[in-house]
Amino acid sequence: MISNSTILIVEDEDLMRGIIAGMMRDSGFRVLEASSGEQALEIFAAESPALTISDIAMGKMDGIELLDRIKQLDSEALVIMITAYSSVETAIAALRKGAYDYITKPFINENIIQTVRNALRQRELFSENRYLRRELKKKYDFESIIGRSDALMKIFKMIEKIANTNSSLLIQGESGTGKELVAKAIHYNSPRGDAPFVAINCAALPESLLESELFGYVKGAFTGAHTNKMGLFKAADGGTLFLDEVSEMPPALQVKLLRSIQEREFIPLGSTKTVTFDARIIAATNRNLEEEIAAHRFREDLYYRLSVISLTMPPLRERREDIPLLVRFFVEKYTRALNIPPKMVNEEAMQAMINHEWRGNVRELQNVIERAVTLSDEIIESQHLPEKVRDTPQTIKDVSGQTVTLDELERRYIIETLDRVNDDKNRAAEVLGIDLSTLYRKLKRYGR
Ligand SMILES: Nc1ncnc2c1ncn2[C@@H]1O[C@H](COP(=O)(O)OP(=O)(O)OP(=O)(O)O)[C@@H](O)[C@H]1O
Ligand SMILES: [Mg+2]
Repeated sequence: MISNSTILIVEDEDLMRGIIAGMMRDSGFRVLEASSGEQALEIFAAESPALTISDIAMGKMDGIELLDRIKQLDSEALVIMITAYSSVETAIAALRKGAYDYITKPFINENIIQTVRNALRQRELFSENRYLRRELKKKYDFESIIGRSDALMKIFKMIEKIANTNSSLLIQGESGTGKELVAKAIHYNSPRGDAPFVAINCAALPESLLESELFGYVKGAFTGAHTNKMGLFKAADGGTLFLDEVSEMPPALQVKLLRSIQEREFIPLGSTKTVTFDARIIAATNRNLEEEIAAHRFREDLYYRLSVISLTMPPLRERREDIPLLVRFFVEKYTRALNIPPKMVNEEAMQAMINHEWRGNVRELQNVIERAVTLSDEIIESQHLPEKVRDTPQTIKDVSGQTVTLDELERRYIIETLDRVNDDKNRAAEVLGIDLSTLYRKLKRYGR
Protein backbone atom coordinates (compact mmCIF):
# COMPACT_ATOMS: atom_id res chain seq x y z
CA MET A 1 0.00 0.00 0.00
CA ILE A 2 2.66 2.49 1.05
CA SER A 3 5.38 1.30 -1.29
CA ASN A 4 3.48 1.84 -4.52
CA SER A 5 2.11 5.27 -3.59
CA THR A 6 2.48 8.08 -6.11
CA ILE A 7 4.99 10.78 -5.25
CA LEU A 8 5.30 14.12 -6.97
CA ILE A 9 8.80 15.64 -7.04
CA VAL A 10 9.11 19.36 -7.66
CA GLU A 11 12.60 20.69 -8.30
CA ASP A 12 13.82 23.14 -10.91
CA GLU A 13 17.35 21.72 -11.11
CA ASP A 14 17.18 18.75 -13.44
CA LEU A 15 20.14 16.94 -11.90
CA MET A 16 18.82 17.15 -8.36
CA ARG A 17 15.29 16.15 -9.44
CA GLY A 18 16.71 13.16 -11.27
CA ILE A 19 18.57 11.99 -8.18
CA ILE A 20 15.54 12.19 -5.91
CA ALA A 21 13.28 10.61 -8.51
CA GLY A 22 15.72 7.75 -8.93
CA MET A 23 15.87 7.14 -5.18
CA MET A 24 12.10 7.05 -4.94
CA ARG A 25 11.70 4.73 -7.91
CA ASP A 26 14.31 2.40 -6.45
CA SER A 27 12.21 2.25 -3.29
CA GLY A 28 9.18 1.17 -5.30
CA PHE A 29 7.23 4.40 -5.50
CA ARG A 30 5.47 5.67 -8.59
CA VAL A 31 7.12 8.99 -9.40
CA LEU A 32 5.81 12.12 -11.11
CA GLU A 33 8.18 15.03 -11.83
CA ALA A 34 7.66 18.77 -12.20
CA SER A 35 10.31 21.39 -12.93
CA SER A 36 8.27 24.37 -11.72
CA GLY A 37 5.62 25.25 -9.18
CA GLU A 38 3.11 25.97 -11.93
CA GLN A 39 3.62 22.61 -13.57
CA ALA A 40 3.48 20.89 -10.18
CA LEU A 41 0.07 22.39 -9.44
CA GLU A 42 -1.36 21.07 -12.68
CA ILE A 43 -0.01 17.60 -12.03
CA PHE A 44 -1.20 17.71 -8.44
CA ALA A 45 -4.74 18.63 -9.45
CA ALA A 46 -4.87 15.91 -12.07
CA GLU A 47 -3.20 13.09 -10.19
CA SER A 48 -3.74 13.70 -6.45
CA PRO A 49 -0.41 12.17 -5.46
CA ALA A 50 -0.12 10.63 -2.00
CA LEU A 51 2.82 12.90 -1.21
CA THR A 52 4.63 15.87 -2.72
CA ILE A 53 8.33 16.66 -2.26
CA SER A 54 9.15 20.22 -3.23
CA ASP A 55 12.24 22.39 -3.28
CA ILE A 56 11.71 25.74 -1.60
CA ALA A 57 13.97 27.91 -3.76
CA MET A 58 12.56 27.85 -7.27
CA GLY A 59 11.88 30.33 -10.07
CA LYS A 60 8.57 32.15 -10.36
CA MET A 61 6.45 30.19 -7.92
CA ASP A 62 8.58 29.12 -4.98
CA GLY A 63 8.01 26.10 -2.75
CA ILE A 64 6.19 28.05 -0.07
CA GLU A 65 3.67 29.45 -2.52
CA LEU A 66 3.24 26.01 -4.06
CA LEU A 67 2.57 24.61 -0.59
CA ASP A 68 -0.13 27.25 -0.07
CA ARG A 69 -1.76 26.47 -3.38
CA ILE A 70 -1.67 22.73 -2.80
CA LYS A 71 -3.25 23.13 0.62
CA GLN A 72 -6.00 25.18 -1.00
CA LEU A 73 -6.72 22.25 -3.28
CA ASP A 74 -6.51 19.65 -0.55
CA SER A 75 -6.07 20.85 2.99
CA GLU A 76 -4.80 17.44 4.07
CA ALA A 77 -2.18 17.01 1.36
CA LEU A 78 1.18 15.65 2.52
CA VAL A 79 4.04 17.95 1.48
CA ILE A 80 7.72 17.61 2.35
CA MET A 81 10.01 20.57 1.68
CA ILE A 82 13.64 20.48 0.56
CA THR A 83 15.88 23.28 1.72
CA ALA A 84 19.51 24.22 2.01
CA TYR A 85 21.11 24.25 5.47
CA SER A 86 21.39 28.01 5.24
CA SER A 87 17.65 28.60 4.99
CA VAL A 88 16.15 26.41 7.66
CA GLU A 89 14.05 29.37 8.89
CA THR A 90 12.07 29.27 5.65
CA ALA A 91 11.55 25.55 6.11
CA ILE A 92 10.17 26.15 9.59
CA ALA A 93 7.82 28.74 8.16
CA ALA A 94 6.68 26.01 5.77
CA LEU A 95 5.93 23.68 8.68
CA ARG A 96 3.72 26.38 10.14
CA LYS A 97 1.87 26.52 6.86
CA GLY A 98 1.16 22.83 7.08
CA ALA A 99 4.14 21.08 5.48
CA TYR A 100 4.65 17.63 7.00
CA ASP A 101 8.44 17.88 7.36
CA TYR A 102 11.53 19.25 5.66
CA ILE A 103 14.77 17.75 4.45
CA THR A 104 18.00 19.68 4.26
CA LYS A 105 20.36 19.51 1.26
CA PRO A 106 22.68 17.75 0.85
CA PHE A 107 20.75 14.85 2.25
CA ILE A 108 21.57 11.29 2.98
CA ASN A 109 19.47 8.85 0.98
CA GLU A 110 18.22 6.87 3.94
CA ASN A 111 16.91 9.99 5.62
CA ILE A 112 14.74 11.13 2.79
CA ILE A 113 13.26 7.70 2.17
CA GLN A 114 12.60 7.25 5.87
CA THR A 115 10.87 10.62 6.08
CA VAL A 116 8.67 9.74 3.12
CA ARG A 117 7.77 6.35 4.58
CA ASN A 118 6.96 7.82 7.98
CA ALA A 119 4.73 10.43 6.42
CA LEU A 120 2.82 7.85 4.41
CA ARG A 121 2.53 5.45 7.30
CA GLN A 122 1.28 8.11 9.63
CA ARG A 123 -1.29 9.13 7.06
CA GLU A 124 -2.41 5.56 6.66
CA LEU A 125 -2.79 5.07 10.39
CA PHE A 126 -4.58 8.36 10.71
CA SER A 127 -7.06 7.79 7.92
CA GLU A 128 -7.83 4.21 8.73
CA ASN A 129 -7.92 4.79 12.41
CA ARG A 130 -7.62 1.12 13.05
CA TYR A 131 -7.76 1.15 16.79
CA LEU A 132 -10.96 3.12 16.87
CA ARG A 133 -12.59 0.79 14.38
CA ARG A 134 -11.70 -2.26 16.39
CA GLU A 135 -13.34 -0.69 19.41
CA LEU A 136 -16.41 0.14 17.39
CA LYS A 137 -16.56 -3.39 16.14
CA LYS A 138 -16.82 -4.66 19.68
CA LYS A 139 -19.49 -2.11 20.43
CA TYR A 140 -21.59 -3.16 17.47
CA ASP A 141 -21.33 -6.85 18.01
CA PHE A 142 -24.66 -8.57 17.52
CA GLU A 143 -24.65 -9.05 21.27
CA SER A 144 -25.12 -5.34 21.73
CA ILE A 145 -28.58 -5.73 20.25
CA ILE A 146 -30.67 -6.73 23.22
CA GLY A 147 -33.75 -8.91 22.91
CA ARG A 148 -34.85 -12.54 22.71
CA SER A 149 -38.33 -12.21 21.28
CA ASP A 150 -39.24 -14.24 18.20
CA ALA A 151 -39.58 -11.03 16.22
CA LEU A 152 -36.02 -10.03 17.05
CA MET A 153 -34.60 -13.52 16.58
CA LYS A 154 -35.90 -13.41 13.02
CA ILE A 155 -34.06 -10.12 12.53
CA PHE A 156 -30.84 -11.65 13.93
CA LYS A 157 -31.05 -14.54 11.51
CA MET A 158 -31.55 -12.19 8.62
CA ILE A 159 -28.72 -9.84 9.46
CA GLU A 160 -26.26 -12.67 9.82
CA LYS A 161 -27.05 -13.69 6.28
CA ILE A 162 -27.17 -10.15 4.96
CA ALA A 163 -23.80 -9.20 6.44
CA ASN A 164 -21.93 -11.31 3.93
CA THR A 165 -23.62 -9.89 0.87
CA ASN A 166 -23.13 -6.64 -0.97
CA SER A 167 -26.78 -6.03 -1.75
CA SER A 168 -28.45 -2.76 -0.95
CA LEU A 169 -30.56 -2.96 2.15
CA LEU A 170 -33.58 -0.99 3.27
CA ILE A 171 -34.41 -0.92 6.98
CA GLN A 172 -37.90 0.25 7.83
CA GLY A 173 -39.42 0.71 11.24
CA GLU A 174 -40.76 3.26 13.68
CA SER A 175 -38.50 5.81 15.28
CA GLY A 176 -36.19 4.41 17.96
CA THR A 177 -36.57 0.75 17.01
CA GLY A 178 -32.85 0.29 16.39
CA LYS A 179 -32.49 0.80 12.64
CA GLU A 180 -29.11 2.50 12.91
CA LEU A 181 -27.92 -0.01 15.48
CA VAL A 182 -28.73 -2.85 13.10
CA ALA A 183 -27.11 -1.05 10.15
CA LYS A 184 -23.89 -0.71 12.16
CA ALA A 185 -24.00 -4.31 13.36
CA ILE A 186 -24.30 -5.45 9.76
CA HIS A 187 -21.42 -3.25 8.67
CA TYR A 188 -19.01 -4.18 11.45
CA ASN A 189 -19.76 -7.85 11.02
CA SER A 190 -19.33 -7.81 7.27
CA PRO A 191 -16.13 -8.21 5.25
CA ARG A 192 -16.30 -4.41 4.96
CA GLY A 193 -16.00 -3.99 8.71
CA ASP A 194 -12.50 -2.51 8.61
CA ALA A 195 -13.51 0.18 6.13
CA PRO A 196 -15.59 3.18 7.20
CA PHE A 197 -19.28 3.26 8.14
CA VAL A 198 -20.39 6.65 6.88
CA ALA A 199 -23.82 7.94 7.90
CA ILE A 200 -25.78 10.86 6.57
CA ASN A 201 -29.21 12.04 7.61
CA CYS A 202 -31.08 13.02 4.46
CA ALA A 203 -33.58 15.08 6.46
CA ALA A 204 -31.00 17.21 8.22
CA LEU A 205 -29.52 19.10 5.28
CA PRO A 206 -30.93 21.42 2.61
CA GLU A 207 -30.84 19.97 -0.91
CA SER A 208 -27.69 21.72 -2.15
CA LEU A 209 -25.67 20.77 0.92
CA LEU A 210 -26.90 17.22 0.86
CA GLU A 211 -25.83 16.95 -2.76
CA SER A 212 -22.33 18.30 -2.17
CA GLU A 213 -21.92 16.15 0.94
CA LEU A 214 -22.84 13.03 -0.96
CA PHE A 215 -21.06 13.60 -4.23
CA GLY A 216 -18.31 16.04 -3.30
CA TYR A 217 -17.15 18.90 -5.50
CA VAL A 218 -14.12 20.30 -7.23
CA LYS A 219 -12.62 23.65 -6.46
CA GLY A 220 -14.61 26.45 -8.06
CA ALA A 221 -17.77 24.36 -8.56
CA PHE A 222 -19.70 27.12 -6.79
CA THR A 223 -18.99 30.21 -4.70
CA GLY A 224 -17.31 29.05 -1.56
CA ALA A 225 -15.87 25.87 -3.07
CA HIS A 226 -12.30 26.85 -2.29
CA THR A 227 -10.85 23.36 -2.37
CA ASN A 228 -11.75 19.97 -3.73
CA LYS A 229 -14.01 18.08 -1.39
CA MET A 230 -14.39 14.35 -1.32
CA GLY A 231 -18.02 13.24 -1.17
CA LEU A 232 -19.38 10.68 1.27
CA PHE A 233 -19.84 8.17 -1.54
CA LYS A 234 -16.10 8.16 -1.94
CA ALA A 235 -15.40 8.45 1.80
CA ALA A 236 -17.37 5.24 2.31
CA ASP A 237 -15.39 3.44 -0.38
CA GLY A 238 -14.89 -0.18 0.58
CA GLY A 239 -17.28 0.32 3.47
CA THR A 240 -20.93 1.18 4.02
CA LEU A 241 -22.88 4.34 3.27
CA PHE A 242 -25.88 4.69 5.59
CA LEU A 243 -28.62 6.92 4.16
CA ASP A 244 -30.80 7.73 7.15
CA GLU A 245 -34.34 9.06 6.64
CA VAL A 246 -33.99 8.41 2.94
CA SER A 247 -37.68 9.25 2.34
CA GLU A 248 -36.78 12.90 2.89
CA MET A 249 -34.40 13.05 -0.04
CA PRO A 250 -35.50 15.69 -2.57
CA PRO A 251 -36.71 14.32 -5.97
CA ALA A 252 -33.80 15.66 -8.04
CA LEU A 253 -31.33 13.99 -5.73
CA GLN A 254 -33.31 10.77 -5.80
CA VAL A 255 -32.64 10.64 -9.55
CA LYS A 256 -28.95 11.25 -9.06
CA LEU A 257 -28.73 8.71 -6.27
CA LEU A 258 -30.49 6.09 -8.37
CA ARG A 259 -28.09 6.62 -11.25
CA SER A 260 -25.05 6.48 -8.98
CA ILE A 261 -26.14 3.23 -7.38
CA GLN A 262 -26.92 1.70 -10.76
CA GLU A 263 -23.69 2.74 -12.42
CA ARG A 264 -21.52 2.45 -9.32
CA GLU A 265 -20.04 5.81 -10.27
CA PHE A 266 -20.88 9.50 -10.01
CA ILE A 267 -19.60 12.92 -11.03
CA PRO A 268 -18.58 15.36 -8.29
CA LEU A 269 -20.16 18.82 -8.59
CA GLY A 270 -18.35 20.98 -11.11
CA SER A 271 -16.26 18.09 -12.37
CA THR A 272 -16.30 16.39 -15.73
CA LYS A 273 -14.69 13.18 -14.56
CA THR A 274 -16.68 10.25 -13.26
CA VAL A 275 -15.54 8.69 -10.03
CA THR A 276 -16.22 5.06 -9.26
CA PHE A 277 -17.06 3.89 -5.79
CA ASP A 278 -17.54 0.64 -3.97
CA ALA A 279 -19.71 1.33 -0.97
CA ARG A 280 -22.54 -0.81 0.25
CA ILE A 281 -25.73 1.20 0.58
CA ILE A 282 -27.97 0.78 3.61
CA ALA A 283 -30.98 3.08 3.73
CA ALA A 284 -33.37 3.62 6.62
CA THR A 285 -36.75 5.23 6.97
CA ASN A 286 -39.47 5.50 9.58
CA ARG A 287 -42.05 6.31 6.93
CA ASN A 288 -43.95 3.80 4.90
CA LEU A 289 -42.18 4.02 1.55
CA GLU A 290 -45.03 2.34 -0.34
CA GLU A 291 -47.27 5.20 0.79
CA GLU A 292 -44.62 7.74 -0.18
CA ILE A 293 -44.47 6.15 -3.63
CA ALA A 294 -48.24 6.21 -4.00
CA ALA A 295 -48.18 9.90 -3.08
CA HIS A 296 -45.44 10.49 -5.69
CA ARG A 297 -42.97 11.67 -3.09
CA PHE A 298 -40.58 8.79 -3.53
CA ARG A 299 -39.40 7.20 -6.77
CA GLU A 300 -40.48 3.65 -7.23
CA ASP A 301 -37.36 2.71 -9.23
CA LEU A 302 -35.14 4.01 -6.42
CA TYR A 303 -37.18 2.06 -3.91
CA TYR A 304 -36.50 -1.16 -5.79
CA ARG A 305 -32.80 -0.34 -6.02
CA LEU A 306 -32.54 0.32 -2.30
CA SER A 307 -34.64 -2.58 -1.15
CA VAL A 308 -32.88 -5.48 -2.80
CA ILE A 309 -33.10 -6.79 0.73
CA SER A 310 -35.46 -5.18 3.18
CA LEU A 311 -36.21 -5.66 6.81
CA THR A 312 -38.61 -4.07 9.23
CA MET A 313 -37.72 -3.46 12.84
CA PRO A 314 -40.67 -4.46 15.03
CA PRO A 315 -41.98 -1.80 17.41
CA LEU A 316 -41.27 -2.45 21.07
CA ARG A 317 -44.96 -2.81 21.92
CA GLU A 318 -45.09 -5.87 19.67
CA ARG A 319 -42.31 -7.61 21.56
CA ARG A 320 -43.00 -6.73 25.14
CA GLU A 321 -41.11 -9.78 26.36
CA ASP A 322 -37.92 -7.87 25.44
CA ILE A 323 -38.76 -5.01 27.79
CA PRO A 324 -37.43 -6.57 31.05
CA LEU A 325 -34.16 -7.49 29.28
CA LEU A 326 -33.78 -4.00 27.90
CA VAL A 327 -34.64 -2.42 31.25
CA ARG A 328 -31.94 -4.42 33.01
CA PHE A 329 -29.46 -3.70 30.25
CA PHE A 330 -30.03 0.05 30.43
CA VAL A 331 -30.07 0.15 34.24
CA GLU A 332 -26.67 -1.49 34.22
CA LYS A 333 -25.42 0.76 31.47
CA TYR A 334 -26.36 3.95 33.31
CA THR A 335 -25.32 2.88 36.80
CA ARG A 336 -21.98 1.89 35.35
CA ALA A 337 -21.67 5.19 33.50
CA LEU A 338 -22.34 7.04 36.75
CA ASN A 339 -19.99 4.71 38.61
CA ILE A 340 -22.61 3.84 41.21
CA PRO A 341 -23.72 0.44 42.61
CA PRO A 342 -26.27 -1.59 40.62
CA LYS A 343 -29.98 -0.87 41.13
CA MET A 344 -33.08 -3.05 41.18
CA VAL A 345 -36.38 -2.32 39.52
CA ASN A 346 -39.43 -3.18 41.61
CA GLU A 347 -42.34 -5.23 40.33
CA GLU A 348 -44.77 -2.35 39.96
CA ALA A 349 -42.33 -0.20 37.97
CA MET A 350 -41.42 -3.11 35.73
CA GLN A 351 -45.08 -3.91 35.12
CA ALA A 352 -45.79 -0.30 34.21
CA MET A 353 -42.96 -0.38 31.69
CA ILE A 354 -44.13 -3.67 30.21
CA ASN A 355 -47.58 -2.17 29.70
CA HIS A 356 -46.53 1.17 28.27
CA GLU A 357 -47.11 1.94 24.59
CA TRP A 358 -43.54 3.11 23.84
CA ARG A 359 -44.34 5.23 20.81
CA GLY A 360 -40.65 6.22 20.87
CA ASN A 361 -39.66 2.56 21.18
CA VAL A 362 -36.24 1.56 22.57
CA ARG A 363 -34.94 5.12 22.51
CA GLU A 364 -37.84 6.26 24.73
CA LEU A 365 -37.26 3.34 27.11
CA GLN A 366 -33.58 4.16 27.28
CA ASN A 367 -34.33 7.79 28.18
CA VAL A 368 -36.85 6.76 30.82
CA ILE A 369 -34.29 4.47 32.46
CA GLU A 370 -31.55 7.06 32.34
CA ARG A 371 -33.82 9.46 34.20
CA ALA A 372 -35.02 6.82 36.70
CA VAL A 373 -31.45 5.80 37.51
CA THR A 374 -30.65 9.38 38.46
CA LEU A 375 -33.83 9.96 40.47
CA SER A 376 -33.92 6.71 42.45
CA ASP A 377 -31.97 5.34 45.40
CA GLU A 378 -31.21 1.60 45.42
CA ILE A 379 -34.56 0.65 43.96
CA ILE A 380 -36.30 2.05 40.93
CA GLU A 381 -39.98 2.45 41.76
CA SER A 382 -42.90 3.61 39.67
CA GLN A 383 -42.64 7.08 41.19
CA HIS A 384 -39.32 7.43 39.33
CA LEU A 385 -41.03 6.88 36.00
CA PRO A 386 -42.62 9.68 33.99
CA GLU A 387 -46.34 10.06 34.55
CA LYS A 388 -47.30 8.85 31.10
CA VAL A 389 -45.42 5.60 31.65
CA ARG A 390 -46.87 5.06 35.11
CA ASP A 391 -50.45 5.66 34.01
CA THR A 392 -50.54 3.45 30.99
CA PRO A 393 -53.70 1.36 31.20
CA GLN A 394 -53.12 -2.37 31.11
CA THR A 395 -53.43 -3.78 27.63
CA ILE A 396 -54.20 -7.19 26.26
CA LYS A 397 -54.62 -8.74 22.82
CA ASP A 398 -58.21 -9.25 21.70
CA VAL A 399 -59.42 -12.19 19.58
CA SER A 400 -58.35 -10.47 16.36
CA GLY A 401 -54.84 -9.91 17.74
CA GLN A 402 -55.33 -6.18 18.29
CA THR A 403 -53.85 -4.59 21.37
CA VAL A 404 -56.60 -3.07 23.51
CA THR A 405 -56.84 -1.81 27.06
CA LEU A 406 -58.66 -3.89 29.66
CA ASP A 407 -61.18 -1.05 30.00
CA GLU A 408 -61.93 -1.23 26.30
CA LEU A 409 -62.36 -4.97 26.45
CA GLU A 410 -64.75 -4.60 29.39
CA ARG A 411 -66.75 -1.98 27.50
CA ARG A 412 -67.09 -4.26 24.48
CA TYR A 413 -68.21 -7.15 26.66
CA ILE A 414 -70.86 -5.09 28.48
CA ILE A 415 -72.29 -3.69 25.24
CA GLU A 416 -72.37 -7.13 23.67
CA THR A 417 -74.14 -8.60 26.69
CA LEU A 418 -76.73 -5.81 26.61
CA ASP A 419 -77.36 -6.53 22.94
CA ARG A 420 -77.84 -10.21 23.66
CA VAL A 421 -80.45 -9.55 26.39
CA ASN A 422 -82.28 -6.93 24.34
CA ASP A 423 -81.07 -4.07 26.50
CA ASP A 424 -82.60 -5.55 29.67
CA LYS A 425 -80.37 -3.84 32.29
CA ASN A 426 -81.43 -6.10 35.19
CA ARG A 427 -80.74 -9.24 33.19
CA ALA A 428 -77.44 -7.85 31.91
CA ALA A 429 -76.25 -7.03 35.44
CA GLU A 430 -77.15 -10.53 36.47
CA VAL A 431 -75.24 -12.10 33.55
CA LEU A 432 -72.24 -9.85 34.13
CA GLY A 433 -72.31 -10.49 37.85
CA ILE A 434 -72.26 -6.81 38.80
CA ASP A 435 -74.61 -4.44 40.68
CA LEU A 436 -77.21 -2.65 38.63
CA SER A 437 -75.85 0.66 39.92
CA THR A 438 -72.33 -0.30 38.76
CA LEU A 439 -73.72 -1.14 35.33
CA TYR A 440 -75.44 2.27 35.09
CA ARG A 441 -72.27 4.02 36.18
CA LYS A 442 -70.24 2.25 33.51
CA LEU A 443 -72.82 2.87 30.79
CA LYS A 444 -72.85 6.54 31.67
CA ARG A 445 -69.08 6.61 31.21
CA TYR A 446 -69.44 5.02 27.78
CA GLY A 447 -72.05 7.63 26.87
CA ARG A 448 -74.98 5.17 26.72
N1 LIG B 1 -32.36 -3.99 20.70
C1 LIG B 1 -31.64 -2.97 21.23
N2 LIG B 1 -30.75 -3.23 22.19
C2 LIG B 1 -30.03 -2.24 22.76
N3 LIG B 1 -30.15 -0.95 22.42
C3 LIG B 1 -31.04 -0.63 21.47
C4 LIG B 1 -31.83 -1.64 20.81
N4 LIG B 1 -32.59 -1.03 19.89
C5 LIG B 1 -32.32 0.27 19.96
N5 LIG B 1 -31.38 0.53 20.90
C6 LIG B 1 -30.84 1.85 21.27
O1 LIG B 1 -31.91 2.78 21.14
C7 LIG B 1 -31.48 3.98 20.55
C8 LIG B 1 -32.23 4.21 19.25
O2 LIG B 1 -31.80 3.29 18.28
P1 LIG B 1 -31.49 3.73 16.78
O3 LIG B 1 -30.87 5.07 16.74
O4 LIG B 1 -30.78 2.63 16.11
O5 LIG B 1 -33.00 3.82 16.27
P2 LIG B 1 -33.58 4.28 14.86
O6 LIG B 1 -34.52 3.23 14.45
O7 LIG B 1 -32.45 4.61 13.94
O8 LIG B 1 -34.40 5.57 15.26
P3 LIG B 1 -34.77 6.87 14.37
O9 LIG B 1 -35.74 6.43 13.31
O10 LIG B 1 -35.43 7.77 15.36
O11 LIG B 1 -33.50 7.39 13.83
C9 LIG B 1 -29.99 3.85 20.36
O12 LIG B 1 -29.34 4.43 21.46
C10 LIG B 1 -29.77 2.35 20.32
O13 LIG B 1 -28.49 2.03 20.76
MG1 LIG C 1 -31.88 6.51 13.23
